[in-house]
Amino acid sequence: METLVVDHPLVAHKLTTLRDVRTDSPTFRRLTDELVTLLAYEATRDVRVTDVTIRTPLVETTGTQLTRPTPLVVPILRAGLGMLDGMTRLLPTAEVGFLGMARDEDTLQPATYADRLPQDLSGRQCYVLDPMLATGGTLAAALKLLVERGADHVTAICLLAAPEGLVAVEQKLAETLAPDHGATLRVVTAAVDERLDENGFILPGLGDAGDRLYG
Ligand code: PRP
Repeated sequence: METLVVDHPLVAHKLTTLRDVRTDSPTFRRLTDELVTLLAYEATRDVRVTDVTIRTPLVETTGTQLTRPTPLVVPILRAGLGMLDGMTRLLPTAEVGFLGMARDEDTLQPATYADRLPQDLSGRQCYVLDPMLATGGTLAAALKLLVERGADHVTAICLLAAPEGLVAVEQKLAETLAPDHGATLRVVTAAVDERLDENGFILPGLGDAGDRLYG
């Protein structure tokens, strides 16, 4: 699994304000939206496109359009919902599927409480949205589900990732997916932080993204 850390001064600036405990919910929502658009710009560098012939007012020329079916965008509820508008601003024709997952506060294991995704994702390109990749349990479960339904190219866009979580996602997928699944899996994030604390929170992190977005 490839990890891309988007190294850009605007990303670093917005992330610093997101981390700040003094940032209120309305500002946190707006900055999340702006940050996602910057991350999505990098994350969609390999979005599938097709050549198309069009006429300008002067001549015929060859251009580019998104290949159909367009990508499936999958926000992981709740916190991933705060990233959806920023993503669909760049990909307005994308289909959107929803995955509701919550991490048990004691065991840190993810439980899926909503699955509104197509059953058949054969050959589909997908973008998963979740602000935090902490222990990695949630993302590993989401990627497994998408790949088992046939998705062959999945990029997770996260605001922050913990190094332990990135390793754990790779390990869990190696243990649970068929070795010949053949899907390309990537994580695009604004930063890989120092570590997890004993409660599974990312340090220095930004706290609980869901609570800061939605209270
Ligand atoms: C948070 C976060 C991720 C998950 C990451 O969601 O938004 O989905 O935890 O943790 P992990 O990498 O250790 O699995 P949470 O379960 O708090 O739900 P919420 O989005 O509804 O707040």
